[in-house]
Amino acid sequence: MKIDEIKHGLRRAPKRWLVTGVAGFIGANLLEALLELDQEVVGLDNFATGHRRNLDDVQWSVGEEAWARFRFVEGDIRDLDTCRAVCESVDIVLHQAALGSVPRSIEDPIRTNQANIDGFLNMLVAARDAGVRRFVYAASSSTYGDHPALPKREDVVGRPLSPYAVTKRVNEMYAEVFARVYGFASIGLRYFNIFGRRQDPNGAYAAVIPRWIGELLAGRRPVIFGDGKTSRDFCYIDNAIQANLLAAMVEDEAAVNQVYNIAVNAQTSLYELFTKIREALSVYVPALGEVEPEYGDFRPGDVRHSRASIDKAAALLGYAPTHDVDAGLSETVQWYFRKWERR
Ligand SMILES: NC(=O)c1ccc[n+]([C@@H]2O[C@H](COP(=O)([O-])OP(=O)(O)OC[C@H]3O[C@@H](n4cnc5c(N)ncnc54)[C@H](O)[C@@H]3O)[C@@H](O)[C@H]2O)c1
Repeated sequence: MKIDEIKHGLRRAPKRWLVTGVAGFIGANLLEALLELDQEVVGLDNFATGHRRNLDDVQWSVGEEAWARFRFVEGDIRDLDTCRAVCESVDIVLHQAALGSVPRSIEDPIRTNQANIDGFLNMLVAARDAGVRRFVYAASSSTYGDHPALPKREDVVGRPLSPYAVTKRVNEMYAEVFARVYGFASIGLRYFNIFGRRQDPNGAYAAVIPRWIGELLAGRRPVIFGDGKTSRDFCYIDNAIQANLLAAMVEDEAAVNQVYNIAVNAQTSLYELFTKIREALSVYVPALGEVEPEYGDFRPGDVRHSRASIDKAAALLGYAPTHDVDAGLSETVQWYFRKWERR
């Protein structure tokens, strides 16, 4: 099914969704998209890394009438009873709650494991017992680990390079086993460096794009870890939202109980990324066009190069990214600049 047909169908016959990690970057953007499609949404978050300001921002963006279709539960996926309570009467789960960041997992593997594996298993059990029809979850490109092949194809993975990568790999294994043993239907989306509005620019574990935008706007020189040649497949948030809706609604049996790369199939080096952000920001603050980055050490646990094949998602889900890196960056930079102006 095409994304437009799916949206039309959802508007005609709204569903009840659970978004975990709803106060986080991807969760809040999913919430906004669902409320704009007239859906009923329950959201769960413990604010470990998410923020109330993301929920406030969605409320402001969708308006009070749509906001009335949202119920927020402050709670923790590490608690099975909480997971059971939020899964009640839900048709579809979009499970985003986890502790992200490779460096965080290297600092604190136990907490990462608790949220990402214990929490994930709780959610699977609760969703299964509540009769949830589809469980879509955030998997990760980190699962490719040390395998050098490019582009990354879903069935060829290497050894994990960090505790975070282990947790995301285990999620996929649990999902697969739940399909086999209990006939429970899930789809894993291996996100590749998703970026866009509402991504946290602050803190030691901030992702590179919001961090650099924040630093440039604050008059600081961003630091590139390594030689600037490390590359990633940066993927705009609207593409990830599309993938979640497609995965939630796909009817083809062959498409279910699978994992999919969610990316744009482009490889951008960190230095190129820096120049793209600098250029996009200099539209608003011309003086930033002159800033040069600083360089720091390579970070342990980081994959060197990354680019995804998106053929499988295109073929089985009908995934067709609407934004390439430049289009996504231009929207993202504008959003952060407007926030910064109003600060
Ligand atoms: N952003 C990316 O590029 C990317 C790439 C690969 C995978 N992912 C995965 O996508 C998901 C969302 O990532 P994000 O970028 O929005 O990160 P985020 O940190 O902004 O969002 C995660 C949310 O989960 C919540 N959370 C964490 N532990 C929880 C717990 N125990 N109980 C309840 N809520 C909890 C946090 O408070 C936060 O709001 C995560 O599973 C992440 O691992 C993200």
